[in-house]
Amino acid sequence: MSSEHAGHSAEGSSFPEGGGPAERLRFLLRYAVLAPSRHNTQPWLFEVEGDEVRLFADATRALPAADPDGRQLLMACGAALVNLRVAAQHFGHTISVEVLPGHRADGLVARVRLEERWASTPDAEAMFHAIPLRRTNRLPLDGREPPEGLLTALLREARRERVSLRAVEERGRRAVSEIVAEGDRLQWASGRFRAELAAWTRSNSSSRPDGMPGYSFGMSDAAAFVHPLAVRFAGAGRAEADRDRRRAFGTKALLVLSTPGDAQAEWIAAGEALQRVLLRATCAGLYASYFSQVIELPDMRLRLREAIGERGVPQIMFRLGYGLEVRAPPRRPVDDVLRGFDATPARPQPLALCAPPAPPPGPGAATGARPAVAQPGSAAPIR
Ligand SMILES: Cc1cc2nc3c(=O)[nH]c(=O)nc-3n(C[C@H](O)[C@H](O)[C@H](O)COP(=O)(O)O)c2cc1C
Repeated sequence: MSSEHAGHSAEGSSFPEGGGPAERLRFLLRYAVLAPSRHNTQPWLFEVEGDEVRLFADATRALPAADPDGRQLLMACGAALVNLRVAAQHFGHTISVEVLPGHRADGLVARVRLEERWASTPDAEAMFHAIPLRRTNRLPLDGREPPEGLLTALLREARRERVSLRAVEERGRRAVSEIVAEGDRLQWASGRFRAELAAWTRSNSSSRPDGMPGYSFGMSDAAAFVHPLAVRFAGAGRAEADRDRRRAFGTKALLVLSTPGDAQAEWIAAGEALQRVLLRATCAGLYASYFSQVIELPDMRLRLREAIGERGVPQIMFRLGYGLEVRAPPRRPVDDVLRGFDATPARPQPLALCAPPAPPPGPGAATGARPAVAQPGSAAPIR
């Protein structure tokens, strides 16, 4: 991966050294928005006030079919927090993050405060430079082994967020790849799932700043043009299942991130761990792609857990490998996700622990202004 093919332009202008904390935080958000998110929904909103930035889950970008509990939505927010931290360190700051416990009707996920000066390290610098280079790569990956010692480094990154990372061993591969294939067949049989996926699938020439253009799947302009229609109306489940079975079985590194339980705070931690692992893997020139079907379907999640002998709750499964460079999918500019900016210092606010639970986003959520995420305990527990 060479940096000239980065595609993302977060480094476009320089850090406002002479500016106040609010200007600095606004600049750092350029890196936060480069985090991955299911279907590239980019389900985050920010408010900057003085030296504080508040991160909100944007329920108008929820995926009721693929992600009914908002679990992956919060994972994406967790990934954005890591980018913010890593970028802050590069530009000479540290941040303190207060993750909210999930009782908030307004969708507030975290309060982040820009702290004192902080010297970066070579290690942190490598992670920073990986932010715009990290990419989901759905193309075939080649057969080269990841470098010696990488898995240990990835385990360490996950553990920093108190999340466990497990490599699916050779003997479990057959069973896991069958679960992957069955997950594909089940999801693609659902018209709701396909309609939602189609709504986030874009042509190669789309000017929309979100969703997945056909080039993310290696498609020509012509194929990408008809792709949303094909997703909506054609049952490609069998082809998807065959391809994903092969990929899960044949990849050199198939990894699962798991948390002890399945609470909202753990979803955020899983997203933080994922992003740390991805950035570390990107430093080594590796790409990732995901098998979310095995987590999104409760039965498949249980079966995966059994097949790999995991005591925790699997949050995401992905493969890592080397491959051809892929073009960066679009991102919403910071101005689109920054819904409040006030350069005067934030007043300390009490934590709102007791706000009444919000109802889950209904059919009108796409137009509603209330960003709220699923309530604690709403996820189907895995036991
Ligand atoms: C929690 C999570 C789950 C994801 N699941 C899938 C998946 O099942 N299949 C897939 O192709 N991509 C998946 N992705 C990748 C996103 O589609 C991708 O991050 C997005 O399109 C932006 O592209 P980028 O990662 O190259 O920036 C997932 C990403 C996240 C954060």
